[in-house]
Amino acid sequence: SGGRRRTAGRGGHPDLEHHQHGHPAVRATAVAFPNIALIKYWGKRDEALIIPQTSSLSLTLAVYPTTTTVTLAADGEQHQVLQDGAPMPQAASVKVARFLDHVGQLAGSSRGACVETSNAGPTGAGLASSASGFAALAAAAAAAYGLDLSSRDLSRLARRGSGSASRSIFGGFAVWNAGTDDLSSYAEPVSDAHVDAAMVLGIVNAGAKPISSRDAMRRTVETSPYNAPWVETNPTELALMRDALRRGDFTEVGEISERNALRMHAAMLGAVPPVRYLTAGSMALLDAVAELRRGGLEAYATMDAGPNVKTLCRSADAPAVRAALAAAAPGIEFVIAESGPGVAVSGPDDADD
Ligand code: DP6
Repeated sequence: SGGRRRTAGRGGHPDLEHHQHGHPAVRATAVAFPNIALIKYWGKRDEALIIPQTSSLSLTLAVYPTTTTVTLAADGEQHQVLQDGAPMPQAASVKVARFLDHVGQLAGSSRGACVETSNAGPTGAGLASSASGFAALAAAAAAAYGLDLSSRDLSRLARRGSGSASRSIFGGFAVWNAGTDDLSSYAEPVSDAHVDAAMVLGIVNAGAKPISSRDAMRRTVETSPYNAPWVETNPTELALMRDALRRGDFTEVGEISERNALRMHAAMLGAVPPVRYLTAGSMALLDAVAELRRGGLEAYATMDAGPNVKTLCRSADAPAVRAALAAAAPGIEFVIAESGPGVAVSGPDDADD
């Protein structure tokens, strides 16, 4: 926020007509969904470009979309970032403004932008709001600034905002090829997957996390003696996962997913000081999932940078899995998430219409 920023108009919304200085009021909107990794991304080799140490593989979900509208303002205008109609907290809005500067640079434009975003799900609680958030922002900003990007280039762009966002450009299973530089690090669909999977999300705690995944993964890379084995075992695990998806072997997909999540948490538990997102409530759900398997209902747990446990199951089993988990863990909310679509964009069009 600075001297050149215009004040908000009626209803708390910026008075966009007065921002244009002769430019058309171009606007684009994008909707993107979160994704949950089955082979996790945890650790960067390049912090600035967000190049990961390893490749990762995820399932995009059909719940909790982020909807983001980007409206271009005048040349040199400050960016403005609103979440649910209110200014976004400083740290988050600085990340968004930097991202918009990058998009402007790619487009050869120095116009400011107004971003209006809202999450249908909880923000910053390990339910991948940054993945859906930067995927939607990348697509809306690229369209508003007039960039016509391939889905691969859109994935590379989303990656610059948040690594996991590179995968939310695509629906269903997606793989983010680690690559070695900006050009070679992008996600793409896993086109030969023959598994019909869903997730049952157990909301152990929808509050904000104790440490951001960005800081926690840096600490893991810098201090955990388990980071090296985590990185070394990735290619084999990813190859096994891709093969299991190709063969439609749900059991193998589930077993690899659960052990991959546990290994990621093992790597961070080895950091100094340790990073621990899992709580007693998480562990209780891990027990409940193991109990379902012993009872013949195939389900596997995966956990990210928070205490919530996502249970992978066959799509047809999801209602039974949810019912069994709800009975085992009263008081916890469970949400069924089927496989969801990739990012969708509308616009660019004239904001004055
Ligand atoms: C545990 O993509 O949020 O969800 O690239 O620093 O923005 P940055 O991190 P982010 O990390 C996601 C980590 C994870 C695993 C995963 O999604 O692969």
